[in-house]
Amino acid sequence: MSTLLEVSGVSVTFDGYRAIRNLSFNIGPAEMRAIIGPNGAGKTTFMDIVTGKTRPDEGRVLWGEKSISLTRLSEAKIAQIGIGRKFQRPTVFEDQSVFDNLLLSLKNKRSPFSVLFYRKTPADTERVHALAEEIGLADQLPRKSGELSHGQKQWLEIGMLLAQEPQLLLVDEPAAGMTPEEREHTTSLLVQAAKTRAVVVVEHDMEFVRRLDCRVTVLHEGSVLAEGSLDHVTANQQVIDVYLGR
Ligand SMILES: Nc1ncnc2c1ncn2[C@@H]1O[C@H](COP(=O)(O)OP(=O)(O)O)[C@@H](O)[C@H]1O
Ligand SMILES: [Mg+2]
Repeated sequence: MSTLLEVSGVSVTFDGYRAIRNLSFNIGPAEMRAIIGPNGAGKTTFMDIVTGKTRPDEGRVLWGEKSISLTRLSEAKIAQIGIGRKFQRPTVFEDQSVFDNLLLSLKNKRSPFSVLFYRKTPADTERVHALAEEIGLADQLPRKSGELSHGQKQWLEIGMLLAQEPQLLLVDEPAAGMTPEEREHTTSLLVQAAKTRAVVVVEHDMEFVRRLDCRVTVLHEGSVLAEGSLDHVTANQQVIDVYLGR
């Protein structure tokens, strides 16, 4: 299988502490991957490196068929070439409707001002409806986003990221604070999204990871400790020791 993102031999040091140590990671174009690991393992830092927020001291981060080096690109440029990231706290425009949040997230309509001056085309409206359908908010389009439940806001934000048509979507703990039903909906939404793009999910909840039914990468002290199916990695003695704090 071809590689969409190739991270190899990456290290990052914060004030003398090596948070990421010789990390290597590959993902293909339409692949779902879960990243698990104890607190401080380097999961968020890994996403910071891919999105250009943190620069590695050494190693390579290569993107796409042309193997573009991401370590030289700005955060804005990295987002533009197709890497979307969802943070734990939703950043929807609470005063705007669900419809408008999705509309102003559509590719090439980045600024909130453009929505004021811009006449939406039938194609845009159609795209917004398709996105709302995809995230399960089709019946919430006229609602003010601020009135949505915590789970619905998270889905809206995933929809806003999908509106940008990323080739790689990075999501950090998407199920945090959700009800069991909301978690289940989040799983199916991400599984659906991974059919046409790469999705990397950092998540603590093992049941959630199990439902993603994907390859799992276990991080520990900034390196890959194990990789494979969830059953494979959870049978690994080193992984068991780390989780039991031994
Ligand atoms: N900006 C930073 N400055 C200093 N240390 C940091 C910074 N970001 C992360 N760290 C440290 O790097 C390690 C990995 O952190 P992080 O990537 O947040 O782990 P995880 O997301 O797996 O819990 C931790 O020891 C953390 O304290
Ligand atoms: Mg984290």
